[in-house]
Amino acid sequence: MKVKVGIVGCGVVGTGVVELLLKNSEIIKKKTGVELELSKVADRDWERQRAFHVPEGLRTTDYKEVIENSHIVVELVGGKGFAKELIKEALLKGKHVVTANKHLLAEEGEELFSLAQERGLHIGFEASVGGGIPIIKAVREALVGNNIKVVYGILNGTTNYILTRMLQEDVDFETALKEAKSKGYAEADPSLDIDGWDSAHKIAILSFIAFGSFLPFSRIHVEGIRNIELLDVELGRELGYTLKLLAIAKRREEELEVRVHPTFLPEEDPLAKVSDVFNAIMVEGDFVGKTMFYGRGAGSHPTASAVVSDIVDIACRLQSGQVCTYPINWEDKRIKLTEDFYSRYYLRFDVPDRPGVLASIAKVLADHHISIASVLQKEKVCKLAGREGEHIVPLVVLTHKAYESSMRRALQEMQTLPVVMGKPILIRVEEEAE
Ligand SMILES: NC(=O)c1ccc[n+]([C@@H]2O[C@H](COP(=O)([O-])OP(=O)(O)OC[C@H]3O[C@@H](n4cnc5c(N)ncnc54)[C@H](OP(=O)(O)O)[C@@H]3O)[C@@H](O)[C@H]2O)c1
Repeated sequence: MKVKVGIVGCGVVGTGVVELLLKNSEIIKKKTGVELELSKVADRDWERQRAFHVPEGLRTTDYKEVIENSHIVVELVGGKGFAKELIKEALLKGKHVVTANKHLLAEEGEELFSLAQERGLHIGFEASVGGGIPIIKAVREALVGNNIKVVYGILNGTTNYILTRMLQEDVDFETALKEAKSKGYAEADPSLDIDGWDSAHKIAILSFIAFGSFLPFSRIHVEGIRNIELLDVELGRELGYTLKLLAIAKRREEELEVRVHPTFLPEEDPLAKVSDVFNAIMVEGDFVGKTMFYGRGAGSHPTASAVVSDIVDIACRLQSGQVCTYPINWEDKRIKLTEDFYSRYYLRFDVPDRPGVLASIAKVLADHHISIASVLQKEKVCKLAGREGEHIVPLVVLTHKAYESSMRRALQEMQTLPVVMGKPILIRVEEEAE
């Protein structure tokens, strides 16, 4: 049986999938016995130049032609509107679906997976997280025997590139962002990446497969890197930490912490060494222990590699007549999502350089049962608007683990102290994500 594959959306990833299928179908057949046939490729604009030539006979502007002529429909349009309708239409017509659309799956995946399950169909989404890194299959299949304790990682290449440049070249955020744009690593509007939403979409998907229930996406705690100051990257480095945008899904008994925020990691942590546009994901299971997956998290070819792995997976099952669904929401009791995280903190205060300052900050922390691990005070003078001429210096306090609720109350109180100028900076520290 030839398994017919159709693609809707022939942009960066779609073009890569066409190229891979046309170049490597023979080797896929030798490896798996599966014969794939690229049936149709839909896009609304065929005038545009692409990195790979799509043969005339495959092209169409009508997505319905793709659905009609395929066993597997590959959605590579992106966004939530048309892409969702397309996937629903394909499923209602009995077609299996492959997509790389993290935005859609994270926010509205439950409806689509339920529809697929009702109809005994499969939605493959390997490419939605980590680009070419086979993390979905690893968590779902290779680690299936484990209770997963935590999944965390660097899931966005754009922000990792910016933070790497800030750390290694001592450039500020705006300069690093400009460089990322000039190299094609950041979109003209980079907000989905730099404000943490792209990472949030990916951790929502990882959390769904690792912990077995869909989360209300709006309740995921998301902070990006837009307001990161070079001073904190430098002070962190002096303390032996590297700043990363981390996405974390961590189980604490019946509660789940799912969060995205800038995080200090010890410089010897394997994730701290992941630089430039690379992604890496740590998964810890009760039997396997810690595992780490590393690779290119985006790009035409790596992402196409992941898309094709889903296509081949479905095709193999189709040939052997197996049912193709995975259970969704397999965790019978819905895990409670908590916003009261438990972590260590880096706090930076701008303070006058005089005796008694540290004591007053330490007292507020102690009143909230937060203990100090270490302190760093620099002689470097901070330039604060309206306070030119005053000797104001950065004071960094590293705390032991504390609950977020206590820390927030303490910070509120500290802002009323006359010695604390402006808003204190808070960055979470993960010594090891457990
Ligand atoms: N790029 C990556 O490295 C990467 C990595 C992982 C996952 N993904 C995901 O993969 C998906 C595709 O991303 P991409 O980077 O390939 O996007 P892209 O380059 O913008 O490609 C999307 C293509 O779909 C076309 N399109 C839009 N609406 C259409 C419609 N109604 N009918 C037919 N064609 C339509 C677009 O045409 P126009 O240009 O005219 O709009 C464009 O050619 C997204 O969900 C993305 O999040 C991408």
